[in-house]
Amino acid sequence: MFAFVWLMLLAYAQLVSTETFNTTGYSSQVRSIFLLAGQSNMSGRGGVINGTWDGVVPLRCQPKPSKILRLSAGLSWVEAQEPLHRDIDVNATCGIGPGMVFASSLLNLNPRIGVIGLVPCAVGSRMGTKISEWGRGTYLYNQLLGRAKAAAALQAGGRFRIRALLWYQGESDTNNPEDASLYKTRLERFFTDLRADLKLPALPIIQVALASGQGPYIDAVRQAQFGVHLRNLKIIDAKGLPMEPDNLHLSSLAQVQLGDKFAKAFAATG
Ligand SMILES: *[C@@H]1O[C@H](CO)[C@@H](O)[C@H](O)[C@H]1NC(C)=O
Ligand SMILES: *[C@@H]1O[C@H](CO)[C@@H](O)[C@H](O)[C@H]1NC(C)=O
Ligand SMILES: *[C@@H]1O[C@H](CO)[C@@H](O)[C@H](O)[C@H]1NC(C)=O
Repeated sequence: MFAFVWLMLLAYAQLVSTETFNTTGYSSQVRSIFLLAGQSNMSGRGGVINGTWDGVVPLRCQPKPSKILRLSAGLSWVEAQEPLHRDIDVNATCGIGPGMVFASSLLNLNPRIGVIGLVPCAVGSRMGTKISEWGRGTYLYNQLLGRAKAAAALQAGGRFRIRALLWYQGESDTNNPEDASLYKTRLERFFTDLRADLKLPALPIIQVALASGQGPYIDAVRQAQFGVHLRNLKIIDAKGLPMEPDNLHLSSLAQVQLGDKFAKAFAATG
C-alpha cells in the first residue's frame, strides 16, 4: 500500500515536472542565475506616478525572449518582462527596475554567459523593508533562499549555477540611530548566512550604496555599506542618479544606468 502511494506520488511529480519542462522548454536552457533582492528600488518603481505605472518600457528594458527568463512566483521559468517583480512585491505598484537592463547589458558584455535566469525577490511593499526583516529565519530570507534553491534545481541537471546576488536595500534603515548603527553587523551577517545556506561561500554579491534615504541617517548607512569587507563583495554607487517626482524612487532612466553599473561590476568579477 505504502509503495503504491509512493509510486503514485512519483508518477504525479513526473507529470508535473514534464509539463513544466515541456510547455516552457526553458528549464534546461538557463545557464546563469541571478538573485535580485532588497527593497523598492530593486523591485522597481520607474514610471510609477501617484500609484500607477505608466507602462512605458525603455528600449533597453525590452524583453529578449529565450535569452532572459525570470522565475515566476509559481516557481517556473517564464519570459522576463517588466515589471519583473509584479507577482513578488504584490502590495505595491511595480514599475521599471534594474534587472532587465542588467541582463541585456551582461549579454552584450559577455555573450558566453548563456541564457540568463533572473530570480526576483525584492520587496518594497508600502513601508519598505528593513535589514532586520531580511535576517536568517525571517519570511523574506526564507522566500529568497527557497526561490534561489528552486531556481537552481529547475536548471539543467540541477547543478548550481547561481552567479550572483544583486542587492539594493537600506533606505528604511535610515530612520533611526539604532537601525543605522546596527546596519553593518546585520548586513554582514545576512550576506554570510545566505552564502552558507546556499553552500556558495564565495558567491559574488553586488550591492548598491544609497544616494539618499527615508530618514536622516543616510551617511551612517552608507558608511556601513562601504565598511563591509567580504570576499567577492562589490559596491556600486547610486549617488547622482535621477529620481521620480516623488523624490523617493529612482526613475526608469536611473534604473537603466544602474542596470549597466550592475553588469559592469559583475563582469569585472571575472
Ligand atoms: C499626482 O498627485 C498630485 C497630488 O494629488 C497631483 O498634484 C499631481 O498632479 C499628480 N500627478 C500626476 C502625474 O498625475
Ligand atoms: C502583502 O500584504 C499582506 C497583508 O498585509 C501580507 O500578509 C503579505 O505578507 C504582504 N506581502 C508582501 C510580499 O509584502
Ligand atoms: C531609492 O533609491 C534612492 C537612491 O539611492 C534613495 O534616495 C531613495 O530613498 C530610495 N527609495 C526608497 C523608498 O527606498
